[in-house]
Amino acid sequence: MTTRGFPEGFAWGTATAAYQIEGSVTADGRGASIWDTFAHTPGKVLNGETGDVAVDHYARYAQDVALMGDLGLNAYRFSLSWPRIQPGGRGVNGAGLDFYKRLVDALLSRGITPYATLYHWDLPQELQDAGGWPERETAYRFAEYAAVVHEALGDRIKHWMTVNEPWCAAYLGYGSGDHAPGLRSPELAVRAAHHLLLAHGLAAPALSGNGGLVGAAPNLYAVTALTDSDADLEAARRIDGLQNRFFLDALLRGAYPEDVVADLSPYGFADAVKPGDLDLIGGPLDFLGVNYYSRHTVTVAEGASGVVATSPFAGSSPWPGAEHVAFVNAGRPVTDMGWEVDPEGLREILLRIAKEYPPVPLYITENGAAYVDEVVAGAVDDEERRAYLEAHLAACHDAIAAGVPLRGYFAWSFLDNFEWGWGYGKRFGLVHVDYATQVRTPKASARWYGRAARHNGLS
Ligand code: FCB
Repeated sequence: MTTRGFPEGFAWGTATAAYQIEGSVTADGRGASIWDTFAHTPGKVLNGETGDVAVDHYARYAQDVALMGDLGLNAYRFSLSWPRIQPGGRGVNGAGLDFYKRLVDALLSRGITPYATLYHWDLPQELQDAGGWPERETAYRFAEYAAVVHEALGDRIKHWMTVNEPWCAAYLGYGSGDHAPGLRSPELAVRAAHHLLLAHGLAAPALSGNGGLVGAAPNLYAVTALTDSDADLEAARRIDGLQNRFFLDALLRGAYPEDVVADLSPYGFADAVKPGDLDLIGGPLDFLGVNYYSRHTVTVAEGASGVVATSPFAGSSPWPGAEHVAFVNAGRPVTDMGWEVDPEGLREILLRIAKEYPPVPLYITENGAAYVDEVVAGAVDDEERRAYLEAHLAACHDAIAAGVPLRGYFAWSFLDNFEWGWGYGKRFGLVHVDYATQVRTPKASARWYGRAARHNGLS
């Protein structure tokens, strides 16, 4: 019996990203991205692993879509590989676009609604060679890419997300160096953050043609000060500002929070922002995606590095202006990433957005957990992941009951895959992948989630 029903038309999906699953990195004219370069640089990814093969989704997409359909899911969030569509960051590679046409046609034929992300971190290497996201020009190139994509796929795809987790792309890519392109400069990172949002704003008009709906997918955290001391509250203000308000205020109010701009002024942030940029960034948004995993509990510690475990090779701080802040474990159970499980934080964020910002439909565009999974007699009993999903979906249900316009939920991830700096060492999939044979085995969580999707609710 369904006791906690979801609104009619609720999207029940999973999410993936191109570099994490596709493999086939030189097929059909694909160019190199910064993640190809980074993963092939010794010492950047655990065990020297790369996305060269990943889970071979480029070749196996039909089987993967069939499995999604069999499970009963009605939506799927995936990303388009920029260097497949524009090798070198320019032109149009028809063969690359054809892959996404085939993928989307397969989804639609199974009644699965496609939700496409244009940028999930795989910048064409040539655009990085020209300066990458710290260069304003990259945002204009992204708008051209968006126009190419929309022209080719706008008949099949209605839901578009411009940028995935711009905080990570900017601060882990250009600040701490834990992600591609592996640079370590707060000045570059703050410029990258603005240009990723500018890219969103410049691309949105092209994507909204032909009935397109445009969103973005920032990663948001609940943030709590460890104590009520002025210093800890100030630490929480800074982290909340950099992680949440910077993106929410820009996208939903067309303004950067003044305190964050002041925090970032020593790094030349204000120089990057040109007149009119915020009007573009704060232009009409059809929906906001929320990627949620955990809560930051913060305190001030003398000599703190300001580093959370964003990769096994954590470099310098990804938190300009908050380098004195330490992230502490508040005692909740943790996943295999060491991230605290905190469904209440998800409810808190959803209610906060609904209360403090202009109304906008919301989706959970990522939420999930890594655990150590084992195949035993052909099955994976991942009760911890199932419980994680149920607790977070229950938080979504509460938020909807409180009036939050939440339209869908995408579990990260459909398949086990290449988890960035951690290589294949962390499994987030609802479906297990044997990396040696590429055999897919739906975990118990996948069956449970599929049932929830078919019943449109939690029992
Ligand atoms: C998010 C990323 C996604 C995946 C999950 C675990 O930050 O968007 O690609 O790595 O974390």
